[in-house]
Amino acid sequence: MADTETSNYVLAIDQGTTSTRAIVFTKSGEIHSVGQKEHEQIFPKAGWVEHNPAEIWDNTREVIGQALGKGDVANTDLAAIGITNQRETAVVWDKNTGEAVYNAIVWQDTRTDKIVAELGGDDGADKYKAVCGLPLATYFSGPKVKWILDNVEGARDKAEAGDLLFGNTDTWTLWNLTGGTNGGVHVTDVTNASRTMLMNLKTLSWDEGIAADMGIPLSMLPEIKSSSEVYGESDKLGVPIAGILGDQQAATFGQACFEKGMSKNTYGTGNFMLLNTGTEIVPSENGLLTTVCYKIGEQDAVYALEGSIAVTGSLVQWLRDNLGLIKEAPEVEELAKQVDDNGGCYIVPAFSGLFAPYWKDDARGAIVGLTRYVNKNHIARASLEATAFQTREVLDAMNADSGVDLAELRVDGGMIANETLMQFQADILGVDVVRPKVAETTALGAAYAAGIAVGFWNGEQDVIDNWAEGARWSPKMADAERDRLYRQWKKAVTKTFGWVD
Ligand code: G3P
Repeated sequence: MADTETSNYVLAIDQGTTSTRAIVFTKSGEIHSVGQKEHEQIFPKAGWVEHNPAEIWDNTREVIGQALGKGDVANTDLAAIGITNQRETAVVWDKNTGEAVYNAIVWQDTRTDKIVAELGGDDGADKYKAVCGLPLATYFSGPKVKWILDNVEGARDKAEAGDLLFGNTDTWTLWNLTGGTNGGVHVTDVTNASRTMLMNLKTLSWDEGIAADMGIPLSMLPEIKSSSEVYGESDKLGVPIAGILGDQQAATFGQACFEKGMSKNTYGTGNFMLLNTGTEIVPSENGLLTTVCYKIGEQDAVYALEGSIAVTGSLVQWLRDNLGLIKEAPEVEELAKQVDDNGGCYIVPAFSGLFAPYWKDDARGAIVGLTRYVNKNHIARASLEATAFQTREVLDAMNADSGVDLAELRVDGGMIANETLMQFQADILGVDVVRPKVAETTALGAAYAAGIAVGFWNGEQDVIDNWAEGARWSPKMADAERDRLYRQWKKAVTKTFGWVD
């Protein structure tokens, strides 16, 4: 049995969009060992994105085994387990069989566009914003659950009989880790719940009115708990599972953004910038989301403004998998470095419509500014630049909402290994971009939340003490050039609007 006094490590499970990882962390917040496995991305139709929940659970078990095996870590060495996850991705399963009634509908999926338009009716996209902090959009879990209940044969009857459970992949992972059909714990944390459109941001409980509008029985919904407390025990390892944070909130936690006004930007399949607004719920006037940042045990919830960008790293995957332009993702930088600029070419990757700050479900991607001069190096460069331009749009919105200009940006995620992108990012923002020494902040944040709950770490101060700067990029571009490029980008974005009939 785990003992906080004698245990040396905390295990974090990061159930992400492209892969599931298990990382063992030491007390100083260093990585001890890692297990990782990708899962299949299923695209049944244009705009649809699914994952197989059974595959995700199999992979989770496998990567835990890898991480413990590689690091020679016994279960008795673990003080706690933390879970972090791709948010909004909806799983609905039968509690009697443990089997999902349909594939997980992924956050990038746009099939619910008609559902969200109907739900909005005459009130439009902001109908529920005052309650849940979110605009009606295909991004969030609630409409995805409605789609499953409306479209999977027999699902609604089973749901109404109390046989079906819903969860984002944090809940799916926790339920399985704690025994599944044999007593699995059906719980989520406040950060994940705040991405469903079903939670009241003030009371941190399910909103019966919104759930009724979406036809979702309350019996399907997990119990909402804080981000840092013991939810249950792993049935196989006998270790408490004591932290859950949606991946972007976990990264904010791992980046030690505990003060109001601190922010981070994660470069994953998409980009997600979060600004800590303290215990205050700040409604956005500029296309950002209001969301829960974290809640430690009994303490008050801390909120955030979030700028979510659907497609950044996944554009590089698209160059690799759909166009065959590169064989491995890092090659994009090699190509981009062959040219000094984008040659006039802009790529707006509105594959899932446009998220922040536009929230346009009917936008679709565009490559504009093409001439015979443009070659694959320019396309590679324009793909990287798209990430930086989209981030600039979100940062502008954050500055406008908060009334304070951000002095520097803490970054993390896979794409920050790309030096060309990081320099261009600093150039296009006009502020310093700072990378921490341990860049795996998502898993680290979940580990901290779990470790704090069981006393392995004492609290936020330990996280602050462990954080250290790893690299910094400062702007070098002239103001006039920055303004010109950004103006062109804004023009390119308008070309994607209203594409879907
Ligand atoms: O909101 C979606 C986000 O949580 C997914 O993050 O890193 O798995 O792309 P990531």
